[in-house]
Amino acid sequence: MKILLLMSGSIACAKATQLLSSWRKAGHEVRVATTSSVSHFVGAATLEGLSGAPLFDDTFAGGQAMEHITLAQWADVLVVCPASANLLARFAHGVSDDAVSTLWQAAWGRGIPLVVVPAMNGHMWAYPATQANVAQLQSWGVHVLPTAEGELACGETGQGRMLEPADIEARVAALMQDTTGRTGRRILITGGGTREPIDAVRYIGNHSSGRTAAELAEALNALGHEVTWLGGAGAQQPGSGVALAHYTSFKDLESQLQDLLAAQDYDAVIHAAAVSDFSVSQGGGSEKLPSGEVLSLMLTPNPKLLPQLRSWSRNKALCVVGFKLTVGADQAAVEQAVARVFAAGDTDLVVHNDLHEIRPEAHSFTLYREAGQPASIADRQALAQALSGYLEEIA
Ligand SMILES: Cc1cc2nc3c(=O)[nH]c(=O)nc-3n(C[C@H](O)[C@H](O)[C@H](O)COP(=O)(O)O)c2cc1C
Repeated sequence: MKILLLMSGSIACAKATQLLSSWRKAGHEVRVATTSSVSHFVGAATLEGLSGAPLFDDTFAGGQAMEHITLAQWADVLVVCPASANLLARFAHGVSDDAVSTLWQAAWGRGIPLVVVPAMNGHMWAYPATQANVAQLQSWGVHVLPTAEGELACGETGQGRMLEPADIEARVAALMQDTTGRTGRRILITGGGTREPIDAVRYIGNHSSGRTAAELAEALNALGHEVTWLGGAGAQQPGSGVALAHYTSFKDLESQLQDLLAAQDYDAVIHAAAVSDFSVSQGGGSEKLPSGEVLSLMLTPNPKLLPQLRSWSRNKALCVVGFKLTVGADQAAVEQAVARVFAAGDTDLVVHNDLHEIRPEAHSFTLYREAGQPASIADRQALAQALSGYLEEIA
């Protein structure tokens, strides 16, 4: 395995050298890049000696002008260890002013796992900006390893202590084992419900929990796909390994779908969000409407998003999967409802479910293609497998 080790200024640099040494003994190739502070904790000679390769610590060093690109192209995995509070902030805010932060950005979007191993004093770890930066990186799909609780180098105790080298090594190995079966297919999943603003504080919402989209996102990630979840406010979120984005209203969802689909080549979009059919005319604004008075709202119909997704997509071969929820419909009504979705155009698959058949412990579906027999699907896990199988089939 080709490991790119990015280090920043922390006492835990000593532990990172143990990790480096252990990786080399296990037969991995390791290249090291450091921030300027690292030289106060561990010398270049030690890092070059242990890695058996030149250190990258200066973006502008003679003969290394393109090193930030060539190293990013070379690596199978990038591990930032130790990650200082300062470095987390620079990553989260797009600063690229030295070898490490420039290399980090150059490695972005190449399909290699990006792992961050924080190390710092407990108060620094608890600082709101640091926590917000960690959350930001996680929402982009970065694997941020936890910190341990215990005695810190400064003599205080608390959270923020870097994991032990053996633990980090095991976690990176497990992650790489997971990623050997990656398909490289990108899937965008919408979930949860829209909130249509009435005034500055009120909205019209729906009962969608977002559970199906969250569990599908996790299952498709486990099946090796690169998954982005675009979820409504308050919707159930998928766990680690899935990139997260959020929307609130219909308009917000529409514009984020346009942006995401134009920015990347997705192979499939699974549109499971419960989208309001109406928005409030002149809703929102900065005022709170007075209470205790009759209130008339004008609702204007929203256009259907599903038939437009492919036209917004950079990848015109995008597979489009829609959801149709009915309430106590008989078979004929279900088939008509599904036929209407296909008739609206540009949809490959429709997943049907009926509100009366949804229980917390069991949620079955029927998967429709425009032509051919519908397939009964027992649960969300089986739905993920069926959708993944369809992507294989059309690839
Ligand atoms: C002895 C010592 C230990 C430090 N340990 C940490 C640490 O574990 N985590 C951290 O975020 N900062 C730590 N710092 C502070 C950082 O080194 C400092 O914020 C530095 O500017 C980080 O720069 P860099 O992110 O470019 O490496 C330490 C500083 C000293 C003097």
